[in-house]
Amino acid sequence: MIPLPARMAKKYLWATQNFWVIALVIKVMTPKSTLVTGCAGFIGSNFVRQFRKEFPKAKIIGIDDFSTGRREVLDKTIKFYEGSILDESLLEKIFSRHKPEFVFHFAALPRVSYSVEHPRRTSEVNILGTVSLLEHSKNYGVKRFIYSSSSSVYGGAKKLPTKESENPIDPKSPYAVQKYVGEPFCKIFSELFGLDTVCLRYFNVFGPGQYGDSPYSTVVSAWLEALYFSKRKKAFIEGDGKQTRDFCYVDNVVSANILAMKAKKNFHGEAFNIAHGERTTLNEIKKLIEKYTGKKLSLEQRPPRLGDVRHTHADIGKAKKWFGYVPLLDFETGLRETIKWFERRL
Ligand SMILES: NC(=O)c1ccc[n+]([C@@H]2O[C@H](COP(=O)([O-])OP(=O)(O)OC[C@H]3O[C@@H](n4cnc5c(N)ncnc54)[C@H](O)[C@@H]3O)[C@@H](O)[C@H]2O)c1
Repeated sequence: MIPLPARMAKKYLWATQNFWVIALVIKVMTPKSTLVTGCAGFIGSNFVRQFRKEFPKAKIIGIDDFSTGRREVLDKTIKFYEGSILDESLLEKIFSRHKPEFVFHFAALPRVSYSVEHPRRTSEVNILGTVSLLEHSKNYGVKRFIYSSSSSVYGGAKKLPTKESENPIDPKSPYAVQKYVGEPFCKIFSELFGLDTVCLRYFNVFGPGQYGDSPYSTVVSAWLEALYFSKRKKAFIEGDGKQTRDFCYVDNVVSANILAMKAKKNFHGEAFNIAHGERTTLNEIKKLIEKYTGKKLSLEQRPPRLGDVRHTHADIGKAKKWFGYVPLLDFETGLRETIKWFERRL
């Protein structure tokens, strides 16, 4: 039998040893410094909130010029720089001061119609802005660059569910080309300079923080906006409502970004579909909205939109295999959370 003081000493030793192990694990897991571009936007602001929850001690640096973002969603705990990703001297200041370990690149001018009207301006931000961030990331030894790409690069999938390897790239708008161009640039920076880069192709993102009048409004937010703020917006449906979309709840996009950051593998600009991996018809969404809000949604009937893609449905197997991505929430749960957010805005 070990005498009591010796037993206590042993316990004390065990506790202190483990304390240091736990503290070390937390320290190793917490990224030293993380740059989030577009942190005042829909996805960027959701990302910052959840990243902060997961890594309370992380140093987060944000940049946004509020071209589509909102000042009121800015997280107070981050070091924020107001300005454009096209401002070379601002980027130099941010990278030299903070030496980010990870860069999450959400900033973009994301409206398809705006890109059709302003192909040059949108190319500057969406292409040159990305290249500029890649260059600074390379110069300052960033560990991983996580790029927000888009399912629009497929221009309507030929095969469903859409696999990255089976569907040719076929962009149909300046925006889609611009998002696509970021991908080979990521790859080139990996090949030429050894910068670790990964491209996430999001499908129809929706969720709290997406205003129905925002550039990217999916029918979910557009219809809820019309339902709760009818004076501002009128809801409509194009075609027979049997078209389907793979809607992706914003928390799933955020978790995909964090998983991609944590992945042990090295990336060289590979692209991954990020979606729910299921599809819902617009008619089903209307029924679910009416069920969960208890309100009648009246939609103005419009003819089908020319060139509109009939179905989107992602195969998310590659993201699952490479970094364990599985959607945390299904479509209906995401919809209920989004409805709660609209109700809080009243
Ligand atoms: N929402 C979707 O369904 C979806 C789908 C596919 C891809 N994406 C991509 O995800 C990213 C985020 O999209 P979102 O829906 O949050 O859009 P958003 O418009 O809400 O956010 C973009 C943010 O970037 C900022 N920004 C724009 N130009 C800038 C500049 N020059 N300098 C600094 N900041 C600038 C905007 O002010 C805004 O805060 C974008 O890259 C977009 O292309 C979104």
